Amino acid sequence: MLTITDIRAREVFDSRADITLEVEVVLNSGKRGRSSIPTGCSKGKYEALEVRDNDPKRFNGQGVLRAIEIVHTLIKPRLCGMSPYAQEEIDGMLISLDGTANKSRLGANAILGVSLAVANAAAVQSNMSLCDYISRDREKFMPQPIFSMLSGGMHGDGNCDFQDYQVIALNAPHLEAALQVGKNVHMALKSILMARGISTGVSGTGGFLPTLSSNEQGLTLLMEAIGEAGYEAGVDVGLSMDIASEMFFKDGRYHLAAEGRILSTSAFIDYLASLCESYPIMLMEDPLGEDDFEGWTTLTQLLGGKIELVGDDLFTTNLTRFEQGIAMKMANSILVKPNQVGTLSETVRLVTSAKEAGYGIVFSRRSGETEDTSIADLAVALNATKVKFGSMARTEAMAKYNQLLRLQDVIPNAQIG
Ligand code: PGA
Ligand code: ZN
Repeated sequence: MLTITDIRAREVFDSRADITLEVEVVLNSGKRGRSSIPTGCSKGKYEALEVRDNDPKRFNGQGVLRAIEIVHTLIKPRLCGMSPYAQEEIDGMLISLDGTANKSRLGANAILGVSLAVANAAAVQSNMSLCDYISRDREKFMPQPIFSMLSGGMHGDGNCDFQDYQVIALNAPHLEAALQVGKNVHMALKSILMARGISTGVSGTGGFLPTLSSNEQGLTLLMEAIGEAGYEAGVDVGLSMDIASEMFFKDGRYHLAAEGRILSTSAFIDYLASLCESYPIMLMEDPLGEDDFEGWTTLTQLLGGKIELVGDDLFTTNLTRFEQGIAMKMANSILVKPNQVGTLSETVRLVTSAKEAGYGIVFSRRSGETEDTSIADLAVALNATKVKFGSMARTEAMAKYNQLLRLQDVIPNAQIG
């Protein structure tokens, strides 16, 4: 009988050269599967928690020796002898062994590391991609990529309030065509910035970091870059933003430091609606704060028929939060980050429920990533409508786009969307 014989956890570095956890699951066949865990820097309050050492003498307190010990002493003895194909049973065991609502005892990093390494080992044993292993018979398509272009907020250098200005290729017939649009707009934006003597260094997600005089200026820069790249904005390329407004939502109001303005929810909604009137914006992520429920319902009523409104910090990949959102008609799309919830099975359940509710499904990286490409497999396997893997820059993002390209080879119906 095929069983798990060993689980090894270790410290590795992520794309910010911060420490993170890698887990390797070994089977009695000699096959093994691996997973390394990303970390965010603009985390939602309702995310599952990572276990970190908090020892200031090692890697600024970011070490994960405690998480390693948890994997080796608490998790491994329970899982050894189990079949790697028993994903739901294994995830259920991890959830009950943890016993907390936010995975704070074992840590979402230890739990997800094991959960995904088990799935990867089972896929290797089956001689399949993780994508095929997860959804053998389902019809698959390519999700539409969202490309980061300008980084602000917690991803920037304090240069503007909104976190991520992005572009989306419209009507791209296949993945390569979409990737080419992302690359061309990124290059055009770089030449525009260089011509103005502005630094072209990039953030963790690959967006440029110019200091903007207003948040709207990010949109005008993108319009210029789209034109410079030879495309028509709104026809070939759409605009998109992760506003990550929780980061500037304080005492019930939206504090736009870049503009020296403080807006009530209704004034901020008016402002967002006016941006949608002036620019071909097709998606806004976290336009409002994670607890500004009434605002979300109002905004969804106002703009939900025209653009995609994505809940990231709002839902934190958490089914209870999401069901509340459906009941209150908040947003029409959900961001999925497996490490916000902690297991593969919970991620699958959430996506199933999002599909049933008719929500868009956007699989997303974290700002601190690794070379792990499981998220590309999950996105295709679970029929994500979009993916947010970063810009056409930096290896950790390109590794995920490259995995989509590999998956495309084996998907007969590889249309986007
Ligand atoms: P992160 O944020 O820095 O927490 O990963 C990314 C996002 O808000 O989508
Ligand atoms: Zn976000």
